[in-house]
Amino acid sequence: MTERRLLLVNGPNLNLLGTRQPEIYGATTLAQIDERVAVLAAEFGLAVRAVQSNHEGVLIDQIHAARADCAGIIINPGAYSHTSVAIADALIAVELPVAEVHLSNIHRREPFRHHSYVSAVAEMVIAGAGPLGYEMAVRYLAGRLTP
Ligand code: DQA
Repeated sequence: MTERRLLLVNGPNLNLLGTRQPEIYGATTLAQIDERVAVLAAEFGLAVRAVQSNHEGVLIDQIHAARADCAGIIINPGAYSHTSVAIADALIAVELPVAEVHLSNIHRREPFRHHSYVSAVAEMVIAGAGPLGYEMAVRYLAGRLTP
């Protein structure tokens, strides 16, 4: 059987985790999150391809590519959550189960963060759990993908 894989997508400014507004986003770096996700996913027999970009089109290309070799997508779209119909459309197009993660609780923050276009596409949404949210997403998709 070929190895099953998750695509882990992080959007704009998430490359700065660890130093970016730590009072909101915490001290954990993206490299540490990627590592935790990979280790946990491996426990479920899942590989992970982790991508981060500050560019909407690159994120869309990565989502499209997932159709060929991924079984599910974990995505923190960052600010594109609140603006990007194009990313939501890409997620719809690839027809893979989507778990949406936000480190912060977007519903406790400014009103413009309360709506996410991706949430209408995602099977599960977790916001406000910090890096633990990514681990919850792995556990969700691992259960979801169990034959
Ligand atoms: C975020 C919340 C977004 O509103 C913000 O633009 C981000 C990060 C989060 O993880 O809490 O970049 O998605």
